[in-house]
Amino acid sequence: SQYQKGVKHLCDSGINQVPNKYIWPVSDRPNVNDGEQKEFKKNLKLPIIDFSELQGSNRPQVLESLANACEQYGFFQLINHGIPSDVISSMIDVGTRFFELPMEEREKYMSSDMRSPVRYGTSFNQNKDSVFCWRDFLKLMCHPMSDVLLHWPSSPVDFRKSAVTYAKETKHLFLMLIEAILESLGLVGTTEEKKTEEEDDILKEFQDGSQLMVVNCYPACPEPNLTLGMPPHSDYGCLTLLLQDEVEGLQIQFQDKWVTVEPIANSFVVNVGDHLEIFSNGKYKSVLHRVSVNSMKSRLSVASLHALPLDSVVKPSPKLINEANPRRYMDTDFYSFLDYISSCEPKRKNFLDSRK
Ligand code: SIN
Ligand code: FE2
Repeated sequence: SQYQKGVKHLCDSGINQVPNKYIWPVSDRPNVNDGEQKEFKKNLKLPIIDFSELQGSNRPQVLESLANACEQYGFFQLINHGIPSDVISSMIDVGTRFFELPMEEREKYMSSDMRSPVRYGTSFNQNKDSVFCWRDFLKLMCHPMSDVLLHWPSSPVDFRKSAVTYAKETKHLFLMLIEAILESLGLVGTTEEKKTEEEDDILKEFQDGSQLMVVNCYPACPEPNLTLGMPPHSDYGCLTLLLQDEVEGLQIQFQDKWVTVEPIANSFVVNVGDHLEIFSNGKYKSVLHRVSVNSMKSRLSVASLHALPLDSVVKPSPKLINEANPRRYMDTDFYSFLDYISSCEPKRKNFLDSRK
C-alpha cells in the first residue's frame, strides 16, 4: 500500500493530518494517563550508572546500584562509558543522512525476511500491523561482521565506516557491562580473580553472540497524540544499548504508569531484555517500553541489541535456581523466539508469560 514506503516519505509528500492508518485506539494513545496522574511526575530520572566508576575501587557499590536498577526499573542510564563522542556523533550523522536519501535509494534495502543482514522498513512489523506506527527503521545485523558488512548500505558514502566503528565500540562496551551484570548476579567472580573454565565459557558465548543495530527515524508528526512511534514491547535479547538524540520520546512502564525517560547527552539508556530476564530466573526485569512522537522535532535513535548466539538455548542459570527460587521459565531456543515475535501483533501477550 501507499504506507509501506514509510512515514518519512509520507511527511515529505506534505501532510497536515495523521492518516487513519496511524490512529491508535484511545486507550493506547500516549497521553491517556494525563488526567489521572496529575500528582505523578511524568518524567522519570532513571538510575545513573557511572561506567568509569565500575572500573575502579568503587566497583562493589556500583554493582549493587546496577543490580537494583535491573531489578526495579529494568533500565538505567550509562554515563562516562568511554565511547568517544565523535564515534557517537558520526553514527547519528550517517543515520540521519540515510533517511534523507531519495526513496529509490532506501527502497533497495526493503525486505520482509527477518534474517536478512539489512532491512529497511516502517511501523513495527509492516506486514502484520493493523495500525501503523510513526517510525521508519534500518536494521543491520552485525555478526559475523565480515559476512554482513557487504550488504550494508553503501550510501551515504561514509555510512559503513561510521556504523562499523560504532557497532564495534558498542559490542565492546556490552561485553564489559554483561560481565559486570553476571558478577552482580554472583555468576562470575570479581575482576581480580582468575576466571574458572565455566565462567570463561559464559563470557565466550557472549563474545560470539548476535548483535542487531536498529536505526529509528521518527519524523515530526502533525497530530502526535493520535499515534505512537513504537508500540509497547519488550526487547528480546540480553541487553539493549540505546543512543537517542536530544529529543525525548522513550517511555517506560514504571509502577503501572507510562513515564518519559529524560535524555542525558552522551549517555546510553541500557535495558534488560527477555533473555536476561530468563537467564536471571526473573531477578532482572525486561520492562515494556514504547515511543511517543512530537509535532516539533524529528527524532533519531540507534538501538544496539545484544544477545546470545542464534543457535543457543536460553534458560535460567542453574546457579539461580534453588528451593527458595524455583525455576520460573522453560527452555527456549532463539529461532522459535524470533518466529513467535514475528507472528504476533505488537501488543502481544508477553512471550515470557507463555513460557512460565
Ligand atoms: C526501542 O525500543 O528499541 C527504541 C526506543 C527509542 O527509539 O527510544
Ligand atoms: Fe525496544
